[in-house]
Amino acid sequence: MRKYINATIYGNPESREILVENGRFKAIGNDLGNAGEVVDLGGRLVLPPYVDPHLHLDYIFSGLGEGNANVSGTLFEGIRRWSENKKSLTEEIVRERAIKGIQKELSHGVQFIRTHVDITDPNLTGMKALIKLREELKDIVTLQLVAFPQEGFFRYKGAEQLMEKALEMGADVAGGIPHFEISYEHGVESLRRIVDLAIKYKVMIDIHCDENDDPNSRFLEVLNALVLEKDYGSYTTASHTCSFGSVENSYANKMLGLFRESQINFISCPTENAHLQGRGDTYPKRRGLTRVKELLENGNHVAFAQDSIADYWYPLGNGNMMNILDNGIHLAHYTHIDEMNKAFDLITYHGAHIMRVSDKYGIEAGKPANFIVLDAQDAYEAIRERAEVLASIRNGEYLFKREPRKNELAIEFLQQS
Ligand code: FE2
Repeated sequence: MRKYINATIYGNPESREILVENGRFKAIGNDLGNAGEVVDLGGRLVLPPYVDPHLHLDYIFSGLGEGNANVSGTLFEGIRRWSENKKSLTEEIVRERAIKGIQKELSHGVQFIRTHVDITDPNLTGMKALIKLREELKDIVTLQLVAFPQEGFFRYKGAEQLMEKALEMGADVAGGIPHFEISYEHGVESLRRIVDLAIKYKVMIDIHCDENDDPNSRFLEVLNALVLEKDYGSYTTASHTCSFGSVENSYANKMLGLFRESQINFISCPTENAHLQGRGDTYPKRRGLTRVKELLENGNHVAFAQDSIADYWYPLGNGNMMNILDNGIHLAHYTHIDEMNKAFDLITYHGAHIMRVSDKYGIEAGKPANFIVLDAQDAYEAIRERAEVLASIRNGEYLFKREPRKNELAIEFLQQS
């Protein structure tokens, strides 16, 4: 039995102690009695692990060092370049890239990842590789796989059959990209079929939806209507929805009412979309962000995500969710103190809700002892200082443990001067 004392538990300010036994939280509270091992956290912030609910592990690092940079910086050039690159893809390449990406994410305190996997490939190379990894790595990371038709559900011939095959193989989520289909009608029909497939296979839905600056791109409205009618909103996530940041307020307000009814979820990728969107603008340049703050106030779950790491869509990224949160709250104006005090929800609980893993997620007695420790005394300080993750614990075992950074050089300098 191990006891952590002097903990500042996110969302539970009354409790200062955490008792862990046999890989699970035994108790959370105060004066929890003796334990074989006691760890003094010195008042540091304890959170459930970071969740990255939107990543592309099959093409992570694909844009590195090949001279294949995306010159225009647009979504469409990214898709074209990936389409060329993936012709030489093997399961080994995907496996190697994905492991490297997972290592990066884990080293920053992530333990739950939803990755899209391109199924517009007759061999389903990425899906095969990632299904194996999902099982092999389950003790250190929870992986969820989206069957994602990157080159279009209709635009890529045979994608519908490939998606069904991927779902039969065990994909957890059905994906889509309606704004990339060849017409509005094709986009709408793709959503109808994807929703039907998801219900048939009893899987969740996560659509790349309106990832553009076009205020008339209305696939979010269509997706929401389809899942509202079928009472499937809480199983559904609209990723990106950048254009919803460009629509008229009167339209947005109408839609917010419908989102409240459906309880559809949202994922915003602040760094990725700040990079990709606004490319057709001169000035002012749009931020590429959906209405994060308004959706949160509306009672919908919104999570932030990394999306890409050094691929054809985005040249940066390192799996550090603190960087994503920092960018996201700036771009969304989510910077009132009351907002920052709960902003970690966007990279923890909301992502867990979206992935529907809440029953085994969170710092509560009986749940698996999965948590991280940050080098800060509270949420506001953690965000202000972009605090480092000092430890990541999974089923009671350390994935890693680090010493806090010291500032000795600066102190010596100040003492001398
Ligand atoms: Fe994506």
